[in-house]
Formats: sequence, structure tokens, C-alpha cells
Amino acid sequence: MHLSRLALSLGQSATLKLNELANNLKAEGKPVVHLGGGEPEEKIPAGAFEEGRKMLDAGFVRYTPTSGTAALKKEIAAYTEQYYGVKPGPRNIVVASGAKQAIYNFLVSVIDPGDQIVFPAPYWVSYPEMVKLAYGTPVVARPKAGELLVTAEDIESCITTNTKAILLNSPNNPSGQVYPEAFIREMVEICEYRNIYLLMDDIYNQLVFDGLKAPSAYNFSKRPLDESVIVSINGVSKTFSMTGFRIGWSVANAAITQAMVKVQAQISSCPSALSQAAAAGALRAGGDFVATLRAGLEKKRDVMVAELSKLKKVKLHKPQGTFYSFADFSAYEPDSTKLSALLLEKCMVVTVPGIEFGLEGHLRLSYCGSEKDIIEGVTRIRKVLD
Ligand SMILES: Cc1ncc(COP(=O)(O)O)c(C=O)c1O
Repeated sequence: MHLSRLALSLGQSATLKLNELANNLKAEGKPVVHLGGGEPEEKIPAGAFEEGRKMLDAGFVRYTPTSGTAALKKEIAAYTEQYYGVKPGPRNIVVASGAKQAIYNFLVSVIDPGDQIVFPAPYWVSYPEMVKLAYGTPVVARPKAGELLVTAEDIESCITTNTKAILLNSPNNPSGQVYPEAFIREMVEICEYRNIYLLMDDIYNQLVFDGLKAPSAYNFSKRPLDESVIVSINGVSKTFSMTGFRIGWSVANAAITQAMVKVQAQISSCPSALSQAAAAGALRAGGDFVATLRAGLEKKRDVMVAELSKLKKVKLHKPQGTFYSFADFSAYEPDSTKLSALLLEKCMVVTVPGIEFGLEGHLRLSYCGSEKDIIEGVTRIRKVLD
């Protein structure tokens, strides 16, 4: 049967595929250690549970407005004001079925066929495919050898008259690195000067360690929100350990927000009412939950770094946030797909090949699981490689 050229051209999500593989192996009773995951292991916040249960008790779970409920938008506005110093109105917010859909809404709203979206490597696995889904062309800026962060010049050299947006994810999946203030300032200046969008995928922006903060793009713009080129994406998946609820959102000027609402209306009507109620509950009660999650992840980051440093030939930039480490294993095997397959075969440890994030020679190892798994997983890898 016929399949579209677009469908045929799309790659599978490497991380979702590996999750499935790890779960299948576990179900078969194999002693697999999953260092490829992308979700915290904590239970959801009590506030999320209570609000979700209230709605189920009432027995009414209906469509909501396409751009989200007033109750959740109110919490998102308060959250944005607290962490970004910018207060969006309801016209600036679209609640979506995950940050992923919020990004897709944006891409479909700005891309004409062939337009370019520029983003740095290493990048989240989905960016290139999502840009392609919107009939755009992904353009990747690459860091210098041995580095995980690009410079403003690296980005600028990729921009053409067809560029519609720069897309940044900081702290970054997979590297765990936070882009410095000077870089973010330059990105805002470039985008404002050229009148192109700056899409900030801030899904991990509360999960930053060592007392650091991820610089907010809004700090470097004097434009009011309705004239802003900045589109910020956030959600409850990572920060509130609510991946399965599928709630994310965008904050942006009213004009692009309207376009994104139209896109979403024709694709999913609205995000789940039940999940929106739970997300509002999580945000309302939020701060302590996030602080505890962050402290736990920082401790696990330290365990991961200590374990990886025992490998003789691994090079690692210490992650500053997220729950990922992105280590250079090229001295053992330059082909990351081969290395990841070898580790699964020889010691049943799941890792994600760096090539999936646009940077060969690396492996992404997650530390969102248990400390025991981190130690066991990296010890097994060391026994195979050293
Ligand atoms: C960088 C980045 N952006 C967006 C997402 C999607 O988040 P959500 O679960 O809210 O769709 C992820 C999930 O892994 C991610 O790593």
C-alpha cells in the first residue's frame, strides 16, 4: 500500500525505540540496566493526584478550550512570571499535549516548504524529524571538536534568508550543558535584528545544579511580549515527573499564539482535560517537589560522573543540568551505534548512540533511574571496555 514520501523519509525516535526494547527485555526477565531513559522515577506531586482525582470523582471529563483551561493558564502565567519575570495573558499561552506538540504547533505555524530552522548539535533526537514533518529543512550548527556547546558565530554562519527560527534547548538534552548568558544574549540580538523567532525549549530549565540558573532569553529583550520573537516551551513532564500526562505549553506573542491554536484545533482539539487539571494541581503546589527532585538528580549526577571517571578513555563534560550525561567514548569505538549495540549484547546495558543526537563518538547515559542502576550499569560497561 502507498505511503507518503514524508512518512517514508521520517526516522523512528531512537529513544522511544530503545525504551521499548529495554521494557521488552525486562519483561522477558533479562537482567537489563536501562541507562537510556528520559523520565524521572519519582511519583507525581500530591497536588496533581488530588486535582485529577477530583475531576474523576465528579465524573465529567469533557473537551476544554483548544488553548487550554483558564485554571491551568492562570498557573502557567504565575509560573512564567516567577521564573522569567514576564507575565503572559491567556492570549499568549497554548497548552498542548506535551512540549513536543507545542514545538510542532510552532513549527507548522512558521515554516513554509523549504524554510530553514537552525539548531545546534548535539540536539534532541526529535528536532530534525519534526522540522521535516512541517516541510522545513533542519540546519545543524556543529560545535568544535571536543566541545559540546556551539558559539554564536557557529549559529550565525548557518543563517540564510530562508531561516525562520533558531531553536535552543538549555539545559540540553543530551549534553546536560547550560548555554551561557553571553550566548543567549547574542541569540536574542540576532533574532531581533533579523526578525526571526528564537524558540527556547526550556523543558529542563528547573533541573539545573550547583546553584546555577539557566539564563532566560527574556532578560535580554526589551520588547513587550506581544512584539517578542521569543517563544518559550515548557511542561510538566520532566520537572514534575508527569511524562504520562502529556502536558506542555508555549508562551509567545498573541499573533503566533493564534496561529498555533488553529493548528492544534485541527489536530487534537485540545489537550486532555484530566491531565490539565492534574498539571494545574502540580504547578499550584510546585516548588518543594521540584527542589527535592533537583537535589536528588544532582546527587545522581555526581554518582554518574564518579563512575564514568573510572573508565580509562572516556572524556566527559560534567553535566550542569537535566538527567543526562553525554560522554565521548570514541577512544574505544568511534561508531556510537556499534558501541551501543555491543554494550547491549555483552552486558545488557541500554545506552543511546550519540549519532542520534548529531554527534558521533558519544553515548548518552541517563541518571534519572536508581543510583544502584547507575553504578551497576557503568561498572558493567567498564568491565567490557577496560
Ligand atoms: C529537549 C526536549 N524537549 C521536549 C521534550 C518533550 O517533552 P514532552 O514530554 O512534554 O512532550 C523532551 C522529552 O524528552 C525533550 O528532551
